[in-house]
Amino acid sequence: MCGIVGYIGQKSAAGFLIEGLEKLEYRGYDSAGVALLDVEQEPLQIIKHQGKVAATAAAVAAIKPTGTSGIAHTRWATHGEPSDRNAHPHADCRGTIAVVHNGQLTNYQALKKQLTAQGHTFQSDTDTEVLAHLLEDFRKNGDDLVTAVQKTTQVIAGGTFALVAIDAATPDTLVAACMGSPLYIGLADDGLFLASDHRAFRAHTDKSVQLKDGQMAIINADHTYRVVTFDNHQSPHDIQQLKYQLEDIEKGTYATFMEKEIVEQPDVVRRVLDGRSTDDGMVRLGGIETHPEFQSFIKKQLHDVLILGCGTSLYAGETVARFFQEHGYEVQAMDAAEFATSSFQVKPTTLVVPMSQSGTTADLLVAMEKVKAAGAVSFSLVNVPGSKLTSYGTGMYLHAGPETGVASTKAFTAQVLSGALLVLALAQESRLNAPHVAAFTERAKTLSFAIEKILAQSDDYKKIGQSLKDVPRMLYIGRGYGLAVAKEGALKMMEIARIPSLGMSAASMKHGPIALVDSETVVVAICIHDPKVPELYDLTVSNVEQVLARKGRVIIVAEEGDDRVATLGPNGQHPEAVISVPKVHYGILSAITTMIPLQILALAAAEVRGMNVDQPMNLAKSVTVL
Ligand code: F6R
Repeated sequence: MCGIVGYIGQKSAAGFLIEGLEKLEYRGYDSAGVALLDVEQEPLQIIKHQGKVAATAAAVAAIKPTGTSGIAHTRWATHGEPSDRNAHPHADCRGTIAVVHNGQLTNYQALKKQLTAQGHTFQSDTDTEVLAHLLEDFRKNGDDLVTAVQKTTQVIAGGTFALVAIDAATPDTLVAACMGSPLYIGLADDGLFLASDHRAFRAHTDKSVQLKDGQMAIINADHTYRVVTFDNHQSPHDIQQLKYQLEDIEKGTYATFMEKEIVEQPDVVRRVLDGRSTDDGMVRLGGIETHPEFQSFIKKQLHDVLILGCGTSLYAGETVARFFQEHGYEVQAMDAAEFATSSFQVKPTTLVVPMSQSGTTADLLVAMEKVKAAGAVSFSLVNVPGSKLTSYGTGMYLHAGPETGVASTKAFTAQVLSGALLVLALAQESRLNAPHVAAFTERAKTLSFAIEKILAQSDDYKKIGQSLKDVPRMLYIGRGYGLAVAKEGALKMMEIARIPSLGMSAASMKHGPIALVDSETVVVAICIHDPKVPELYDLTVSNVEQVLARKGRVIIVAEEGDDRVATLGPNGQHPEAVISVPKVHYGILSAITTMIPLQILALAAAEVRGMNVDQPMNLAKSVTVL
């Protein structure tokens, strides 16, 4: 949450900074701002505005700044309402030092009180502003900017931060520090960059250094840089070659990133499966094969499994948990934040499986610290290479490619399928016979074709989505693998179309939520045959009858060839739409095929309701606050 960019070099900084902010806008869009050093003009120019990056970009363009170094920020508000005043960068009392920050400073109130008592004047309600005033004090006492930042990191110990500071007195240097929030250096011919995500500078270089917690970066106008620890010792770092291309992070011909990412799902499935099975269909995961200690844990100790995630990743985790259960494991999927703040403890025999698209979700990282402290073994499912989550235990990449739309789509599919492979990889060591594994991997290889078939029907699903334009409320119901899909379908509708939507077990509807059903309420029911639990289909169908009997509007997601669902209900009160998806023969794969039409439904409903699909209200991608 919040995106930071910094640039220093020989060229005009403004264009690089604005372009970087546009690439990072997915991280927050409550306000944006830049601070530029232009020796020809005032020492430090700060231009910042409430709202999207475009407002700041227009203001910057009008000034035509020529400064060759600067810092910039796009904000998701934590401390203080979205406003011009609370927009970053924040400056010291004299307006000569400015700071941008991503994270949370836990002790900022005490610091603010102390600094105010010493005579500092605060302009904003943010926690970040204390950084500028702390730097001001250290600089006044004779410290150089690097030392001032180092001392500041000691004072704010306990908080999380990625910060970049600029000082008019040292125009040839930017200083950054990192603890618990991501920060990268970009090494371009045009100059050096700092950013919360390398997408900000990918158009200019594929060479990047990822800062680790406790590291600082000093980047200079003469194209030199240093990475040091908070106590100023040289710190080892690797230059990483970014593998993705520019088109992977651009919308291309699509109207929204969300639509592009929905359409990418057949390729995502192919990438998840690529190289992960042998010729005879056995699952092979590098994260297991190259870790003998993990193999030994599986064989000798593994007793139960705890899956952790948040939001969409939790629902993917619940889906994977059911597959673990089918294979005889004791398992539960828990909201990471709830786990972190509960007395629930993991045992040395528990395998923890954290799941995350970004790998930087603060709730999950706090949970993983608890897991680490307990000495438990973990195997992560994560999309963003090198993200913080990858530093815990072993794991596997989702290979979904960069996901930019705030509403997660392709990462759900990649998590469910990767989770299924993990279950099989573990189970084939002890509980499964080879033909079972081979049958699954064969079927999984056909999943991309099933998804292509679904996507070919997109226009029909969009019409159904558009018919939801004025719907006041929705319920999503399902059982078995349909339960997590119901929750995820409701989440998608709620977050991007802003239609109040509840996802639940079809069974639990009668215990309360059915009170919402009337002729205006739309109920989406996932009615799929689960070969392992045949009664689930009939039970769900009878829950649909209960809705139709109360004149609720019903949309059904069923398998191709299911002629029964369209005729449910009393005369004249049948489901108003049936979405048919190909049969995939495994419950866990049906979670993917049934979810994709619901992603399209939410997209179309959001568009017809005039919502910003990629940047839904109050949200941001990569939730790095607690
Ligand atoms: C919803 C959505 C969020 C994320 C959640 C966890 O569409 O995107 O619910 O799934 O914030 O994020 P990751 O997967 O990055 O840990």
